[in-house]
Amino acid sequence: MRQSLVVGNWKMNSTRASAKLLAQGITAGLDERSNAGIAVCVPYVYLDCVSEIVKGTALALGAQNVADKPSGAFTGEISASMLKEFGCQYALVGHSERRTYYGDTNETVAARFCQAQEQNITPILCIGETLEQREQDQTFAIIEEQLDAVINQAGIAAFGAAVIAYEPVWAIGTGKTATDEQAQEVHHYIRQYISAKDQAIAEKLLILYGGSAKPDNAKGLFSMPDIDGGLIGGASLDAESFLKIYHSI
Ligand code: 13P
Repeated sequence: MRQSLVVGNWKMNSTRASAKLLAQGITAGLDERSNAGIAVCVPYVYLDCVSEIVKGTALALGAQNVADKPSGAFTGEISASMLKEFGCQYALVGHSERRTYYGDTNETVAARFCQAQEQNITPILCIGETLEQREQDQTFAIIEEQLDAVINQAGIAAFGAAVIAYEPVWAIGTGKTATDEQAQEVHHYIRQYISAKDQAIAEKLLILYGGSAKPDNAKGLFSMPDIDGGLIGGASLDAESFLKIYHSI
């Protein structure tokens, strides 16, 4: 039985004050249930204040990216060891917004994945196809390419300490959620693909869905056999709706 996980991705939103209020609102609404983990990936500059608020609570802290190198002359980058100092347990890698707007490639994403693991930070590897790719029946080929780059660099065993987030690009921030069946089809494909290389790792691997997940569609998505939780953008910026999604698990 896999433990579920719900992760909020705040993206480039909030202020120092609203970040604190949001984190406080989420921790105040947590109950003692232990079958689902919960985390927030906050802007780097708010890791410090949010880490103080989540300390001693069930809410885990994550970053939205991590450098592909351990240290050195890489202006503007934040290393995994720096994130570790703030108690980060998770780091997103390869979010489609990083791939689309900031030039992340499958290879740099794999390097970021490895850097996170070097510091015992769990990478949340984001993968997914664009609308054009889906319409050209390339979804599975794209998923394989994105996975292969990481498998080739990190090895299949590395997926024993990682999370995958399937985020169809056409569903992100668009209000067009994948149907439960569309999402399940790809999640199942991902698990089978990993399973062909290591069955035990595939069975334990958490695969989250992301893309316009909301309180009113989360239950259906989470009831699918290969969907182990969600990576939530817009709806994670409101404590009440994020908690509703969490409680849909
Ligand atoms: P939305 O939930 O706003 O569609 O964003 C999804 C996402 O990109 C999470 O990483």
